[in-house]
Amino acid sequence: MISQLGYIGISASDLGRWEQFGADILGAQLSGKGADGSLYFRMDEYHHRIVVHPGAEDDISYAGWMVATLQALCEVRERLVADGVAVRQATPEEIERRKVIDMISFDDPNGLRCEVFYGLRVSADRPFHSPRGIAGFTAGELGMGHIVLFARDLDRTLDFYSRLLGFRVSDYIDFEMARTPVRMAFLHTNPRHHSAAFVQVDRPKKLAHFMLELTSLDDVCRTMYLCQEKGVPITSTLGRHSNDQVVSFYMQSPAGFEIEYGHGGRLVDDADWVVQYHQTPSMWGHKRQAH
Ligand SMILES: [Fe+2]
Repeated sequence: MISQLGYIGISASDLGRWEQFGADILGAQLSGKGADGSLYFRMDEYHHRIVVHPGAEDDISYAGWMVATLQALCEVRERLVADGVAVRQATPEEIERRKVIDMISFDDPNGLRCEVFYGLRVSADRPFHSPRGIAGFTAGELGMGHIVLFARDLDRTLDFYSRLLGFRVSDYIDFEMARTPVRMAFLHTNPRHHSAAFVQVDRPKKLAHFMLELTSLDDVCRTMYLCQEKGVPITSTLGRHSNDQVVSFYMQSPAGFEIEYGHGGRLVDDADWVVQYHQTPSMWGHKRQAH
């Protein structure tokens, strides 16, 4: 049903810093601004993948899940309604702001606004061009990357995303976060190992981090040194994850949440994938840094 993570929306208190950060650190391309100053960043052929809105939350404000067709959108809507979820039809203004053909929205069990849409605008006349010359993002049909969200009730959250939206569990990791044992579950919706992951902890914020995948390992390492030069806090050192095998580091965004910047994620084939159970998030590295 859901084909990919199409875009995310962020509510940010310092748009000026985000405009610089998105281009000069992340290497994303500003493709336009909304009437309220919202920043639309692109990473591939699509008009936008990250939208930063003025707001006080400094957190994710919505996740945009793409479906392929109108029929798929109707199917998702029917499943949600049959389960008693309050589904809202997007207004013409919302559709215009998101640059899609049609869209519905609803809240997930943790209160995150989810949008399901089809027909995200493609900027075919302007090929993606990174303002700082990175080789490119691994996005396209795999989606913009992944989001990791806090979940109060992991089982209920997994049931919602699996049964109603068609996500499949890739694996679980049990580990210690700040000396507390936590469980994480990773879900895929296309060959990308996970488009969403959930950590069972109760936090006031919704987003732990979002991840961008680079086509070049050199760009990941170069960006890590660029963060050091520019004073962007590195929250976790370079390492390789045990489950998706991504080599990455984590930086702190201007909104406070983290951004994982990585390369080399393994792909999942539903025909032969077996759910795995890990006891450590990393094969090596990813040492937490205090700031
Ligand atoms: Fe991640």
